[in-house]
Amino acid sequence: MFISLEGIDGSGKSTQARLLADHLRASGREVVLTREPGGSPGAEEIRRLLVEGAGERWSPGTELLLFTAARRDHLERTIRPALARGAVVVSDRFADSTRVYQGAARADLRATVDRLHDLMIGVEPDLTLVIDADPAVALGRGKARGAGEDRFENMGLPFQARLRAGFLALAAEAPDRVRVVDGSGSAEDVAARVRAAVGAALAAAT
Ligand code: ADP
Ligand code: TYD
Repeated sequence: MFISLEGIDGSGKSTQARLLADHLRASGREVVLTREPGGSPGAEEIRRLLVEGAGERWSPGTELLLFTAARRDHLERTIRPALARGAVVVSDRFADSTRVYQGAARADLRATVDRLHDLMIGVEPDLTLVIDADPAVALGRGKARGAGEDRFENMGLPFQARLRAGFLALAAEAPDRVRVVDGSGSAEDVAARVRAAVGAALAAAT
């Protein structure tokens, strides 16, 4: 099973991906916890080009190509081999981030994003959880991290609000695959909601 977590910057995706991986491992499953951009040595190198530096460093179109190149490497080297041996893959972001960031919030490139996805990626997660968080709260958390990977966070609060709307629209577009999880409350409150959504999907798949 391939599960992705999505949401705006600072919404709690990484925290929830880690807690979900721990929970699935405790039930005896092999879990590969991975992330985008990154998740393979080559894709991690591309990640640095994307998340550091000034906002205008790349145009939305160039970004789209770099994220897609990173995703292709991640898919070939990490995701496909893990799924082939029966592991559960939990990925902190996947193609929906490109649909929303490059396809809707940064620029109106959704048709190009979809064509490139069909051409070079062609895979969707079995289940995608959007961790839905208030943009002001999420941005404050992300900035408090201060890790230098803040190229997108520096695009500001209105940008984060456009992203949130984009993820909610995507969930409405693909309701069988994409579930919205309320990201408010403690990390444990959210983790319980995530476990419920994944449990329902696992039960339906077996
Ligand atoms: P993302 O991966 O979406 O950017 P993170 O999981 O890295 O988000 O969380 C951003 C910051 O907020 C981290 O410092 C994390 O410890 C903290 N955090 C995550 N979830 C919660 C929560 N439910 N309540 C308060 N703080 C949280
Ligand atoms: P991430 O490390 O998940 O950031 P955060 O922890 O702040 O949520 O992702 C890095 C940034 O890359 C993030 O701002 C979202 C952006 N991004 C895209 O614009 N398009 C994509 O396809 C992906 C995977 C990420």
